[in-house]
Amino acid sequence: RPRIGILTSGGDCPGLNAVIRATTKTAFWLGYDVVGFRDGFEGLVDPIRFQVLNPRNTAGILVQGGTILGSTNKGRFAARVGESGRVELDPKLVDRVAETIERMKIEGLIVVGGDGSLSTAQQFHEAGIPVVGVPKTIDNDLKATAFTFGFNSAVLCCADALDRLHTTAASHQRVMVLEVMGRHTGWIALHGGIAGGADVILIPEIPWTYENIIAKIEERRTLDKHFTLIVVAEGAHLPSGGLVLDDGGSQNMQVRLGGIGQVVAERLEGMIEQDVRFVVLGHLQRGGGPTTFDRVLASEYGAHAVRLITERNFGRMVCSDPPDICHVPIAEAVDQIRTVDPGGSAVQSARAMGMCFGDTPG
Ligand code: F6P
Repeated sequence: RPRIGILTSGGDCPGLNAVIRATTKTAFWLGYDVVGFRDGFEGLVDPIRFQVLNPRNTAGILVQGGTILGSTNKGRFAARVGESGRVELDPKLVDRVAETIERMKIEGLIVVGGDGSLSTAQQFHEAGIPVVGVPKTIDNDLKATAFTFGFNSAVLCCADALDRLHTTAASHQRVMVLEVMGRHTGWIALHGGIAGGADVILIPEIPWTYENIIAKIEERRTLDKHFTLIVVAEGAHLPSGGLVLDDGGSQNMQVRLGGIGQVVAERLEGMIEQDVRFVVLGHLQRGGGPTTFDRVLASEYGAHAVRLITERNFGRMVCSDPPDICHVPIAEAVDQIRTVDPGGSAVQSARAMGMCFGDTPG
């Protein structure tokens, strides 16, 4: 039987196993065998790191978090920008991958990954390796797709945390700061904040000030609400002049060491007469099983990726354009990230409900 290869690369997220299962089932009914390469791209250069997948050994994984194939997000395959300004991989490594694909008679390789892994996949494509991409990141910031699977599960995690913080914040009349993931964008903070009823949402796309947050806290007090829930994306920028390191280090380093949630909480506590606490949600957002939305999206992506291979439509990435699943050139998906539109409907609706983004008082 002809063979399809699949690997999962980069930070894990709920739904990876659903893609693996969907790929395996779809391929099986079309008469293909599936080879799962282990530990991301590493499995392509080490002959022992693969396993043959079939409907039996992938049964039950739809609902499981993580990836049965393992993943790596650093190392020799990490896409590096070369002197030419383009992402470059070691040509010897690419040759070894091409050799594996040929030797194992893989007709097409499915790379499930985020921005970095898809850039690597694009390099493979340019070297003539038959590859298709499946977009993955909890951050939902990949261009060319409305949704990445894992995002909805992360939003649920954020909303659940806010639900819990709500009751304890109200009981103790505290300000709670919840730091969520989102290195470059505020998608999780925005959607999680709306779903969990946050009062203040701080994201990289909207500059904010402490004064505006405090005005919101004060406004709530006049409405007899003596607690406030703040969600901050890890990549949100501190107000300029906010914090300078003694050793002359960068503001980003300060954020990385302390975490922006902690920085915001400590700063606020020094400015208001109220207890402030912070929580870093961290990798809880990446763990656990996928929501039903992510199960459907991941399954559709897997089935669609197999179809692209059977059509020999390589160098493409499957994507979501609701209500359809489509595909675009991988190159188009990796050249920039998709940021939250400050004038978009989610931000507008949140503002209309009185949520504060820290850019205006209250
Ligand atoms: O890219 C997804 C992401 O979840 C980011 O939001 C976060 O900064 C990063 O992964 C954390 O990755 P690591 O597992 O390397 O700490």
